[in-house]
Amino acid sequence: MAAPSSVRVAQRGDLISLADLDLVQIREIVRNGVAFARGERAGEPLAGAVIGIYFRKTSTRTRTAFSAAALRLGARIIAYGPDDLQLNTGETVEDTAQVLSRMLDGLVCRTAGSTEELRALAAPPGMSVINAMSAHEHPTQALTDLITIQQHVGGVDGARVLYVGEGNSTAAALALSLPRFEGTELHLRTPPGYGLEAHVRAQAEEYAAESGSVLRETHDMAELPADVDVVYTTRWQTTGTTKADPDWRAVFQPFQVDEQLLDRYPEARFMHDLPAHRGEETTAAVLDGPRSIAFDQAENKMHGAMAVLEWALRSRT
Ligand code: CP
Repeated sequence: MAAPSSVRVAQRGDLISLADLDLVQIREIVRNGVAFARGERAGEPLAGAVIGIYFRKTSTRTRTAFSAAALRLGARIIAYGPDDLQLNTGETVEDTAQVLSRMLDGLVCRTAGSTEELRALAAPPGMSVINAMSAHEHPTQALTDLITIQQHVGGVDGARVLYVGEGNSTAAALALSLPRFEGTELHLRTPPGYGLEAHVRAQAEEYAAESGSVLRETHDMAELPADVDVVYTTRWQTTGTTKADPDWRAVFQPFQVDEQLLDRYPEARFMHDLPAHRGEETTAAVLDGPRSIAFDQAENKMHGAMAVLEWALRSRT
């Protein structure tokens, strides 16, 4: 009997959804990301490899992180912007994948579309495909977040996170990873109508039940957890998206992370995937304050990218 597609994908070194990886693989990437951040890893394990960096949407962190990571690991890169490939003139994703997979060892792709488009790019053998953010999930952001939690909280197992904001691709990836670690707590407070997609929440609840963790999403900022290690927020306007409701800001306003909210948790660190909009999802006092680790988190995108690329190309078939 054929293996489930998710297992097959993970075995061949693609990272399209964190649901494709098992916990051993996630732990390995986090461990190696921490080691890269500490400067404990040397050498150029990707010498001779060629990596395509294809971003169809804007990016400061993820594009730079993967480009710098590939170069630091000894690979060479080819960068494609949103208007560069013949996809724009009607060539199919399948034909594009056939061609690129014969020339590239890896393709890091931020798409305007779904993860299914990335799976089509990953269909031919030989080229690892890494999701650098799709409409539904931002898996390399969550791996960065776990690396940052490992560094600043002292471990991912047992970590307690309050996520405040839209149930976007960053939230989805966090929900598909953190609850798989033992004894964790992920409390999501998402604006009504802007929560996790139902299938993501169902999968995350399943992971939490298996690991003895807590996964709880509500839309009520009056009901908050007693204590957490991390308060996490994200921009209100996810890259390249618009909200149909003209009054969406009024719905989001109670979900701002300000000093009053952070002060409920005197030991908690503040995390933000960036880019930030001071005065919207958080205040300058919080983002630029002493408990913010948002810029360490941003730097970790490069260390996480190094760990992801090393894993992906080693696992490639
Ligand atoms: N957090 C994040 O993905 O940042 P960029 O959009 O700048 O890559």
